[in-house]
Amino acid sequence: MTLTSGTPPIIELQNPEQRREWQKFTLSDLPEMISALHVCHAVHALATTPLLERMRHGPRQPGNGLLAGLDPAIGRGFLRYLVNRGILEICGADYFLTHFGECLTTEVSLARLGVYVEAYGGVTSRISGLLTGDAVYGKDVVRDGGALGEHCATLFSFFHTPVVLQAARGRNVKRMLDVGCGGGQLIVDACLRDPSLTGIGIDLDPDAIAWANDLAARSGVAGRTEFVVGDAFAPETWPAVCAEADGLCMMSALHELFRHGDQAVVDLLDQLAVRFPRLKMLLVGEPELRFDGRENDDDFFLIHVLSGQGLPRDRSAWFGVFEQSRLECRQVYTRPGAGPRICFYDLAVPAAGAGPE
Ligand SMILES: C[S@@+](CC[C@H](N)C(=O)[O-])C[C@H]1O[C@@H](n2cnc3c(N)ncnc32)[C@H](O)[C@@H]1O
Repeated sequence: MTLTSGTPPIIELQNPEQRREWQKFTLSDLPEMISALHVCHAVHALATTPLLERMRHGPRQPGNGLLAGLDPAIGRGFLRYLVNRGILEICGADYFLTHFGECLTTEVSLARLGVYVEAYGGVTSRISGLLTGDAVYGKDVVRDGGALGEHCATLFSFFHTPVVLQAARGRNVKRMLDVGCGGGQLIVDACLRDPSLTGIGIDLDPDAIAWANDLAARSGVAGRTEFVVGDAFAPETWPAVCAEADGLCMMSALHELFRHGDQAVVDLLDQLAVRFPRLKMLLVGEPELRFDGRENDDDFFLIHVLSGQGLPRDRSAWFGVFEQSRLECRQVYTRPGAGPRICFYDLAVPAAGAGPE
C-alpha cells in the first residue's frame, strides 16, 4: 500500500474478549476510585506546600513566583493536573482555585483529609502487612500522633468547643481537665473564652502534647494551661494537680479502652466517680459508628480496626455501659448534620443510694 499524504490509515482491531475484560474494569468504578486516591494526595500536597497560600494571597503565575522553591517541571505539570481535575482554573496567566477547589481546601476539609492521609496514611498503606503479621501496629506501624492532634484540634474548634461551652454554661467550672486532650484545642479555646478558667490536658502522645503546649503559647494562654504526657486510663498516675479539677472532659478517647473489654471502661468510669465525686461537669464525647457507610463511617471503622483501638459505638450501646457504672447519664448533646458524628454524654455521680452497687 502506498501512502500518499495526510493521516496514515487507522486499523481498528476488535477483540470481544479484551473488550469484556476492559468493561469489567470500567464498570467497577475503579477508574474513579484511583482518581479519588490521587486527588486526595494532590490536595494534601497543595495544602502542605506554599502553593495553596500563594494561590490565595500571593503570586499566581508560575513565571512570577508561584512555583518558587518548587521543582519547576513537576510544578507546572502538577498545576496542569489540578486544572484538569477542576480544582484550579486559569485566567490569563494566573491560576485560581475554582469553587470546587475552595470547598476541597477549607480548614475543615483539610483537617478531615489530614486525619486520613497524614495521621493514618502510614497505617492504611500497610493493611496487608498488618493482616499477615509482617507488621505490628504500635511497633512497625504507628499513626502520626502530632498530625492527629493538629487535625482533631481544628475539627474540635469548629464543632465540639461550642457544645462543650454550652454544656459548661452556668456551672461555674474554674479548672478544666481534658483527658486524652490530643492537640489541646478544647482547653485553649475554653481559656480564651473564659479569662478566669485554667486548664490541664493529659495525653499519651508526646507529639500531641508538644503541639498542645505550642498552641497554648501561640494563643497567649500558656500561663493558665498545663499539658502533660500521661495515661488517661490510669487516673492513679495522673499528676496531683489534676485533683484540683472541677470540670472533666474526655473527648473521642474513652472508646480506645474498649480494646480491653467493656468492663475496663466501666471500671474507669467508677474510678472517676470515686476520685472526682464533686465535679461540676463530667462530659464524655464519643464518636458514633453506625455502619451505614455515610460520612466516612467505613473509613473511620477501618482505621480503628487497623490500629487495634477499641471500636466507637452508637449511643444505645453507650447507655448500656453507663448503666453498669456508678455514673448516671443526665443528658446527651448532639448536633446532627454539623461536624463529625459524635454524642456528648453529660455524666454525674448520682445522689447517695441512687446508683448501682
Ligand atoms: C481521636 S484523638 C482525640 C483528641 C481530642 N480529645 C479531640 O477530641 O480532638 C484521641 C486521643 O486520645 C489519646 N489517647 C488514647 N489512649 C490514651 C491513653 N491511654 N492515655 C492518654 N491519651 C490517650 C490519643 O493519643 C489521642 O490524642
